[in-house]
Amino acid sequence: MNLESFKHYRTGIPAIDTEHWWLFHLVDRAIATKDRDELEYVLGKLCADWSRHVAIEESVMSEAGFPYLEPHVLDHGSISQALASVRCAFTADGTIPDWRAHALEDLIRNHIDHYDMQYIDYIFKP
Ligand SMILES: [Fe+2]
Ligand SMILES: [Fe+2]
Repeated sequence: MNLESFKHYRTGIPAIDTEHWWLFHLVDRAIATKDRDELEYVLGKLCADWSRHVAIEESVMSEAGFPYLEPHVLDHGSISQALASVRCAFTADGTIPDWRAHALEDLIRNHIDHYDMQYIDYIFKP
């Protein structure tokens, strides 16, 4: 994702935006690389950094009394499952089909667009 496209996904909270930018960067790397070792590293990093990101988000949202936390957490879980399934597919044959990587990117885009922005609206437009 280039900076111009990323503008659409900016929340205005620098710490969150930096993490989202990084997650998109990892997905882009997973899509672009043809190197098995790099793909293995990137998928591992993506799983770990996604888990860390959602744990921080959920903690901040809970502290803020965000009323839509439950569906937000469920969507985080769906993406975590999608990530795990991409990683399993990779482990099975050492590659990931483009459609799987793009589907993962779409899930993250949609999550930010809908669920994360819902939190931003709650914080900044009470
Ligand atoms: Fe997020
Ligand atoms: Fe989120």
